[in-house]
Amino acid sequence: MEALFTKLRRIARAHCTVLLGGETGTGKELVARAIHAESPRRRAPFQAVNCATFSPTLLESELFGHVHGAFTGAVRDRQGLFALANQGTLFLDEVAEIPLDLQGKLLRVMQEKTFVPVGGTRPVTVDVRVISATNKPLRREVAEGRFRDDLSYRLRVVPLYLPPLRRRDGDVEALFWQFVSELNHQGMRRIDGVTRTAMDAILAYPWPGNVRELRSAVEYAFVVGEGPTLDVEDLSPELRGEPTPGMPVGSLAEMERGRILAALARHQGRKAAAAADLGISRTTLWRKLYAHRLR
Ligand SMILES: Nc1ncnc2c1ncn2[C@@H]1O[C@H](COP(=O)(O)OP(=O)(O)O)[C@@H](O)[C@H]1O
Ligand SMILES: [Mg+2]
Repeated sequence: MEALFTKLRRIARAHCTVLLGGETGTGKELVARAIHAESPRRRAPFQAVNCATFSPTLLESELFGHVHGAFTGAVRDRQGLFALANQGTLFLDEVAEIPLDLQGKLLRVMQEKTFVPVGGTRPVTVDVRVISATNKPLRREVAEGRFRDDLSYRLRVVPLYLPPLRRRDGDVEALFWQFVSELNHQGMRRIDGVTRTAMDAILAYPWPGNVRELRSAVEYAFVVGEGPTLDVEDLSPELRGEPTPGMPVGSLAEMERGRILAALARHQGRKAAAAADLGISRTTLWRKLYAHRLR
């Protein structure tokens, strides 16, 4: 994380486009905002748009604005995000979802700094730094004909990949305490410790929703639990290893680890009872605890 922030400061000072890759919740928007805040453009606006949430027509008008009468419902002139972000930064989230015919217009504004609003005739000139994000590999989108090659190079001057939380050694625990300390200040509850079983469950969980999900889990603990120590009861069912509908199925090893943690949680950490519950001997449970580094 530290190395990332040093890199960010350097990237911020340049004018280049940045393409942020990584799963949902890994902090792509946070990084985009940080780059803007550290850049010489910090006093100008930062605008953000999620390209996946608009129909093609509405996305064009959202980005480039429209003139009165351009389409049904366009009752007055409206500025688009490129105009609103002038001198500043525009964050295009889920950029792979921009339809092909709009990709040409995006490339033009990035190369020539001009665009024509929907239904308009006169080109508008802007100076906008584009930072985009995608959770799909753009190269694959290009290879499969859904994304323009030339635009992908424009967007990818500096590619930055944010790894999933489960691959970031030490970050789960560090972010956990960061969120606990933030929420402690809100006065709902004061947590100053966590049981071993609860921390084991937190560390064992694969965090498919990454940092966003970790933050929600900490908020959940503040709402459902009481007292200064966070215990497994304060964790949501999926964290305790109880399967919930719609949860992605992990590897066999992850499932086993989850079942063991859930059994320990049900029996307040008593190994004999947990082993009996799992239908295995105590020695087998001990062996598995070592294998999963739960001891
Ligand atoms: N390193 C971090 N420290 C603190 N909070 C973070 C960190 N990374 C992400 N978050 C928080 O996690 C949530 C998801 O981050 P976001 O940038 O929206 O992810 P993405 O755009 O990749 O889906 C936000 O609430 C954000 O503030
Ligand atoms: Mg996001």
